[in-house]
Amino acid sequence: MAELEIRNLHVQIEDKKILKGLDLDVEKGRVHALMGPNGSGKSTLANVIMGHPAYEVTEGSITFKGEDITEAAPEDRSQAGLFMAFQYPVAIPGVSVSKYLRMIINAQREARGEAQIKIKDFAKTAQEAMELANIPKDFSSRYLNDGFSGGEKKRMELLQLALLRPEIAVLDETDSGLDIDALRTVADGVNKFSGPDMGVLIITHYQRILSMVKPDQVSIMFEGRIVKEGGPELVGVLEEKGYGWIREEVGAGAAA
Ligand SMILES: Nc1ncnc2c1ncn2[C@@H]1O[C@H](COP(=O)(O)OP(=O)(O)O)[C@@H](O)[C@H]1O
Ligand SMILES: [Mg+2]
Repeated sequence: MAELEIRNLHVQIEDKKILKGLDLDVEKGRVHALMGPNGSGKSTLANVIMGHPAYEVTEGSITFKGEDITEAAPEDRSQAGLFMAFQYPVAIPGVSVSKYLRMIINAQREARGEAQIKIKDFAKTAQEAMELANIPKDFSSRYLNDGFSGGEKKRMELLQLALLRPEIAVLDETDSGLDIDALRTVADGVNKFSGPDMGVLIITHYQRILSMVKPDQVSIMFEGRIVKEGGPELVGVLEEKGYGWIREEVGAGAAA
């Protein structure tokens, strides 16, 4: 059984139907790429997986480790081992990276009924995570997202991954605007952290990042549904033929 199972998911925002019966499995130990043209609903899916309150699930279910989390609060999902890196993290004035990391750890500990982390333990944990995520030491004294480059925002996300060690991570990469340094950072992180203990759903419109991360599985989304599934060879097909081919195939299928 896959850790994350999505069945017949229908989602709307206001009166607009965005997801229309989506099925998807994401397994621990695998890198799963979700691709699809702009507007197909990829980011909506990522937001719904994490429990964003703006979206309404009208039908279907999301199950994580055998438990129905369709209506669970975002913090409970995160606590259970689901992780989403935010695309546009906000700048928080006066909060250093280091302080933010401590807030994250303490939120997790509090949810488990544990006391706040001791300063000394935190220093060690943070240092280990920074080494793992290959982040320069002086980064921790910077203010959160204040003037961060695209690559630095991505490093921040990796740092969170390294600290929280989720079982399933959802990484939504709108890679327009992501420079090669940022893409490389994400790719290195996925390659380093994915393994038997972590599965990744990497969401992307462009193929570029998938030349640096080799997915085990590829799903293609179109108009709110998964319309094609396959292995890494699908990335090459998309590179060659673009999304027009999917559109034609789905159109032909619907007409038949
Ligand atoms: N918060 C929102 N309010 C209104 N419409 C939205 C909202 N989020 C997404 N949509 C609409 O849902 C559709 C899918 O968007 P999105 O999930 O961002 O697709 P993708 O990430 O694949 O480009 C688009 O037509 C978009 O305009
Ligand atoms: Mg998107």
